[in-house]
Amino acid sequence: MQIKKNISLKSYNTFGIEAKAQLLVNIESEEQLKEAYQSPKLMALPKLVLGGGSNILFTKNQRKAILKINIRGIDVLDQKDHEVRVKVGAGEIWHQFVLWCLDHNLGGVENLSLIPGTVGAAPVQNIGAYGVELKDVFDSLEAYEIKSGKIKLFNKEQCQFDYRNSFFKGRGKDQFVITSVTFKLSTQPRFDVSYGGIQRWLDEKGLELNIHNISESVIHIRQTKLPDPVKIGNAGSFFKNPIIEKPLHEALKLIYEDLPHYPLDSGSIKIPAAWLIEQCGWKGRRMDQIGVHERQPLVLVNYGGGKGLEILKLSEQIQISIQNKFGIELKTEVNIF
Ligand code: EPU
Repeated sequence: MQIKKNISLKSYNTFGIEAKAQLLVNIESEEQLKEAYQSPKLMALPKLVLGGGSNILFTKNQRKAILKINIRGIDVLDQKDHEVRVKVGAGEIWHQFVLWCLDHNLGGVENLSLIPGTVGAAPVQNIGAYGVELKDVFDSLEAYEIKSGKIKLFNKEQCQFDYRNSFFKGRGKDQFVITSVTFKLSTQPRFDVSYGGIQRWLDEKGLELNIHNISESVIHIRQTKLPDPVKIGNAGSFFKNPIIEKPLHEALKLIYEDLPHYPLDSGSIKIPAAWLIEQCGWKGRRMDQIGVHERQPLVLVNYGGGKGLEILKLSEQIQISIQNKFGIELKTEVNIF
């Protein structure tokens, strides 16, 4: 088990925020994970589990020991008819796994191309984009239970997936560390082009509908809309799209006729936070080293040298203005430490 002391976390978070960790432990296997929780040396230390650092904002130096999960491996478990089950180590890079699926002609995750982060972090917030969510290809996962020191198997129901949410953000928070995820992929996938931009791009290019071209299309859309964290620090959507009830929606429609909205099966209505933020005049606003992205206002950015606390303050100002103008509470998607 590799332990580093007093280390900069700048390259461990896609916001590129400078913060120090007293201890950073590289975890390469389940055994090392057990050791980190059970060895007398590390047992008493509070811990923070880190995947790709793409959904986190550091606002201070970290006193907790950072456990960087690097458990690797992609293994085909079995195949039944067109369905192939693949078990993936939590530390694999999500997009590398998507590329592996494309290489092996396995469909299911092509709409989730280029999402930053690791496989182990993906179920925690049920990552989603362009009509597909992780839950749609999920079979099961294994997680280390901190209290018992045992590896537990979770099926889909037990994970309680919801929009950018799961058991691991709710009742299971801080109790488990995901070590592997098993996916159900398909050799004969159904394509999801419900997000209009995908089909438009394929038509424009004269490309046929297959997983490779869908992935290309998604990559193109993401690269046009979203900032590349390698060039401009960011953690993707900073806020979740708020879900409101009918009476508030009716009232808002009276005032804002063009209010974009997506009705949900539950009867509630999802409103794009990007629209609300733009209406409040934040789109493209820059304050020194930080700001609100010019093409996707749901994304807060660090142009270089920005501080975590500055980004937090900006996010709070945005929340207040949305609350005042629309009576809607914006919740953060990013985890703040
Ligand atoms: N919009 C604006 N102004 C803008 C941009 C968007 O008003 O500048 C409005 C438009 O009405 C647009 C709507 O917002 O139709 C939706 O925009 P977009 O398609 O870009 O999607 P989103 O709802 O803003 C969500 C996810 C993204 C994901 C996209 C595509 C959340 C919090 N975000 O964004 O996920 O890529 O859909 O499926 O659900 C992430 O989680 O980090 C992320 C980037």
